[in-house]
Amino acid sequence: MCGIVGYIGDKLAQPILLNGLKRLEYRGYDSAGMVTYLPVKNSLSIRKLPGKVRVLEALLKKKPLSGNLGISHTRWSTHGEPNQVNAHPHLDCKNEIAIVHNGIIENYAVLKAQLIKEKHKFISQTDTEVIVHLIEKFYKDCSLENAVRQAISKLEGSFAIGVISRREPDKLIGVRCGSPLIVGVGKDENFLASDVPALLDATKEVIFLEENEMAVLSKDKIEITSFSGVPVKMSPVTVSWDVSQAQKGGFTHFMLKEINEQPAVLENMLNQRILKDRPEVFFDQLKISREEIFAVKNITVVACGTAYHAGLCGKYILEELCKISVSVDLSSEFRYRNPLVDKDTLIIAISQSGETADTLAAVREAKKKEAKILAVCNVLGSSLTREADGVIYTNAGPEIGVASTKAYTAQLSVLYLLAIYIADIRKTLDTNTKIGLINTLKTIPRLQEKILKNQKEITAIAQRHHHFGSFLFLGRHINFPSALEGALKLKEISYIPAEGYAAGEMKHGPIALIDEYRAVVCVAPHSKVYEKMISNIQEIHSRRGKIIAIASEGDEKIKELTREVIYIPQVDELFSPLITVLPMQLLAYDISVKRGCDVDQPRNLAKSVTVE
Ligand code: AGP
Repeated sequence: MCGIVGYIGDKLAQPILLNGLKRLEYRGYDSAGMVTYLPVKNSLSIRKLPGKVRVLEALLKKKPLSGNLGISHTRWSTHGEPNQVNAHPHLDCKNEIAIVHNGIIENYAVLKAQLIKEKHKFISQTDTEVIVHLIEKFYKDCSLENAVRQAISKLEGSFAIGVISRREPDKLIGVRCGSPLIVGVGKDENFLASDVPALLDATKEVIFLEENEMAVLSKDKIEITSFSGVPVKMSPVTVSWDVSQAQKGGFTHFMLKEINEQPAVLENMLNQRILKDRPEVFFDQLKISREEIFAVKNITVVACGTAYHAGLCGKYILEELCKISVSVDLSSEFRYRNPLVDKDTLIIAISQSGETADTLAAVREAKKKEAKILAVCNVLGSSLTREADGVIYTNAGPEIGVASTKAYTAQLSVLYLLAIYIADIRKTLDTNTKIGLINTLKTIPRLQEKILKNQKEITAIAQRHHHFGSFLFLGRHINFPSALEGALKLKEISYIPAEGYAAGEMKHGPIALIDEYRAVVCVAPHSKVYEKMISNIQEIHSRRGKIIAIASEGDEKIKELTREVIYIPQVDELFSPLITVLPMQLLAYDISVKRGCDVDQPRNLAKSVTVE
């Protein structure tokens, strides 16, 4: 996510703004910038660059900024490449107003077209720039805060913004809608920040803005109102966290924070990707036409690790909804196999980082054979997105923990939406079925939240099983990939040998492993293969295997076979991977913590495998 820092007071703004950005680096970003108000020239002066905060710091050493009013920003790109022009802050036509933004303006294209008609000059590809030109449009004979109010009333999407103007340099304005923003309360100085860590070196007194609130800060005054200007009661709190805890939002590890972000990530995606007025899916940067998609004769998914498991789920989803043949390949195998793909093949390359060497190589191999490339990726401007014909961003925000969690469910969510989109084109779904699927998808965030509230029980199961020397994870049908993902999560952060297997394969070998020293996680929600899973569990039970079952709420039968049951809400089988994976993420997390492993940076692993 982007990071915002603002300052107004008697001190030099630059060092405060820079230090604040450094405290927000954990949020992940690709560019950094700052603007301050220079009284002597009555001007706004900007320094901004792609790259790390230290690159901005080096520039500021050479060309420092004076002034004691300013805003600064670290950008996690969602619209427009990570480059100098697209970095924040952004200015209006007359360089009177400066803005920084965290979030996504969904209707920016319409607004931009209208503002261009009204002769506003745009220089970036960002959605953010429409906001500062909208403020300029309304900033005629009214206060800055009123101009901001009128501007944000035109916006759809999520936005936390910081605004300053050289016309009223005694004001620092903050707005919160869908993205967090916090006021830091100082003595003869006040602050804005996206997150607490950026404030802790200056103050522990903070005010968390609520949704649809605006803060107007001067150095010795704080006014908070609703968007319509109605004053709201301020409730400052004193933060007890240290900086490191604060960067994880109060969670002990980034991985746990990211596991808990999954409902919000899915909710944001559904808001961005499903039209408000009718049950249609749309992708704004797909760049592969409906005609080209209609002409596709087969699909091949290429990916590694967790992304590969998402791709395996994708096979069930796409074949079920689009009635098209889907193969799924490990990128590292695909690239050396002389694959049978051609101009009629759609390659779906799934990658959180967009920099995985094997997946990039697989895509280049497929391009040589004239296949169409669709990237499903979380990092805008990454190599994969630049080499693909079309891109669907997962917009999960930066994933800091090496073990992928929210990116995985975001990839799955994209695949559900993509399948509905392709089915629409291929006419393999009737309208009622499509509406039903979309409505079911919309219920998932709440169901995920229900599981996350149940973590204590999962922790207790982890306590009772963390000492096992090896685990088997079993699943069937669309939850076979879920079992693979559960095994990968456990092995990569606890270093316990863990194997995912199709439960139907038990008799073909793995059942030889079963004894009282083997823990077996069985993914057994109510489904068309439930009875088959029960048979597998009975086989394990009769051989004294230690069973941990993931079962649907209300399932009493499973209790005859094991006391270790993690109940999950009932959901349509097709969507169950979005639910069944959460208990396994939490189980892996708790076992890793219990075993004293480095959850966020497990040994031998990198977040992005950019080499073979
Ligand atoms: C998953 O938890 C691992 N960190 C790893 O398997 C990862 O999924 C794999 O390296 C692929 O990375 P990518 O999605 O960035 O391409």
